[in-house]
Amino acid sequence: MTRHFLTLDSIGRDGILVNLELARHLKSIKGMAQDTIAGGRLGLIFDKPSTRTRVSFEAAAWGLGMLPITLRPDELQLGRGETIADTARVLSRYLSALAIRTFEQSKVEELARYSTIPIINALTDDHHPCQALADVMTLQEEFGDFAGLRVAFIGDGNNVCHSLIQAAGYLGFTLAISTPEGFEPKAEIVEAARANCRENGGCIELGHDVRAAASGADAIYTDVWASMGQEKEREERARIFAGYRVDRDLMALAAPRAIFLHCLPAHRGDEVTDEVIDGPQSRVWDQAENRWFTEQALLYMLITGEERWERLG
Ligand code: CP
Ligand code: NVA
Repeated sequence: MTRHFLTLDSIGRDGILVNLELARHLKSIKGMAQDTIAGGRLGLIFDKPSTRTRVSFEAAAWGLGMLPITLRPDELQLGRGETIADTARVLSRYLSALAIRTFEQSKVEELARYSTIPIINALTDDHHPCQALADVMTLQEEFGDFAGLRVAFIGDGNNVCHSLIQAAGYLGFTLAISTPEGFEPKAEIVEAARANCRENGGCIELGHDVRAAASGADAIYTDVWASMGQEKEREERARIFAGYRVDRDLMALAAPRAIFLHCLPAHRGDEVTDEVIDGPQSRVWDQAENRWFTEQALLYMLITGEERWERLG
């Protein structure tokens, strides 16, 4: 059966751990494993802009011996009324996997329904599971183990926050989320992760007090206040989120070993100050780099169906 990656639920705890193990191996060989899926083809569709996801997926595919084919939506017949189902059926005949960044989660689900190749969610309004894999790889590189970790997420309960919530549930770390009222993450995602925490450890804390969330944290994570598609709300959100900026004073409340994380792109001066993102606790460039290896590991897992790296390296 075709395996897709639509949210972290698609691979669960075991899949995330396999991904991290493969990604560590791929990082150690600098992603050069070109015999692995030689001749494969990765399609990439972006309905929203991207720097990291596009380039890291293209680099990841090339490193596995695959041809990356990036498609702009205005180049596709989708924009002229060809259905998602027909697009999925046709692209399945050419490609080995298809990654898509779009608005509605239902669109990636519909593509997956009609596709005979793995569909990868490269960000929707509700989830950013590829980002979460790189986030947990960065936490693992820094701290080794997830047990007992406390991560604070400050800002909007958005797609990046949702995928991090799922990661916390599967890996058993504590995620303390602080948002303005009305910007909390979706309740069903929080509840499902809390159920997983009962099995795996950790917990999901929700609140509006940034200082309470940051206190004693091992990592402080933030993201933009207005996501792609919310540009019109930018000014209003800047007012509402003004107290949710990660600055030196907030970092000082975290554990002495604490790191700073951000999925990027950052709006410097809004959700994070220069002194924090450029400071010694920042791991954002490692986090961005890890997108490459976790995505490479994901392609390997989904396309070959293998969970070991016999064909790698
Ligand atoms: N973090 C992330 O997904 O970055 P891009 O929007 O540049 O792909
Ligand atoms: N929440 C942000 C993440 C960008 C990678 C957005 O959706 O725009």
